[in-house]
Amino acid sequence: MFGNKALKSTLFISMLTLAGLAVSFQANAACNLVSTVDNKPLAIKAVATDTPEAKQFLETCVNPYTKMYMADAEAAKKGKREYNYNNCTGCHGGKLEGIMAPSLSKNTAGGQGAFDQKWVYAKNATDKGMFETIAAGTPGTSGGTMFIWHNQLPGKTGDGLSTDQILKAVAYIRTQYKGDGEKTWLK
Ligand code: HEC
Repeated sequence: MFGNKALKSTLFISMLTLAGLAVSFQANAACNLVSTVDNKPLAIKAVATDTPEAKQFLETCVNPYTKMYMADAEAAKKGKREYNYNNCTGCHGGKLEGIMAPSLSKNTAGGQGAFDQKWVYAKNATDKGMFETIAAGTPGTSGGTMFIWHNQLPGKTGDGLSTDQILKAVAYIRTQYKGDGEKTWLK
């Protein structure tokens, strides 16, 4: 029914379509963030004022600051500033030892008993998981809840934090880890 030529051009066109699909998948590649409260998708988008590191995270789920801060104590101070400035200290302690909230360094007998040694939410062993926990809050497994911090989310605390500021806080928290679990976030 079809001539050889028609068949060839049909093939050629379908190959073009496939190539187009591959390109558009790549352009849409995104880190699909979900809430720690209910596992629903989080509407956090890259914005014009975002740093290249924030944009990279929103595409790949990899926090570029984590390895940077582990290797460079000076750089890690930027994350410490975010942590102190936003009063994370008030609940988690100046040394991340946990006061009225779980320890974030995980080797103390500080704030929340069982949760001083291990993550309240296992997903916090990944940078994506910890970002989601800080960005959009928690359901209260340890007895208290975490606020919503991301400035693009309804219910945010004060002016909220940008993607970049949260990534820096996460990277700083990683430098303080003293638990005996694997440092999965460095993989
Ligand atoms: C008003 C007290 C309060 C403040 C301020 C606060 N948190 Fe929390 N945070 C909590 C509580 C309580 C939990 C435990 C939540 C739960 O069990 O659902 C928690 C949980 C967490 C966790 C998960 C811990 C785990 O073991 O899984 C991280 C990470 C965290 N907070 C980071 C931060 C950062 C970063 C800031 C500052 C931007 C901050 N918190 C400010 C009370 C606070």
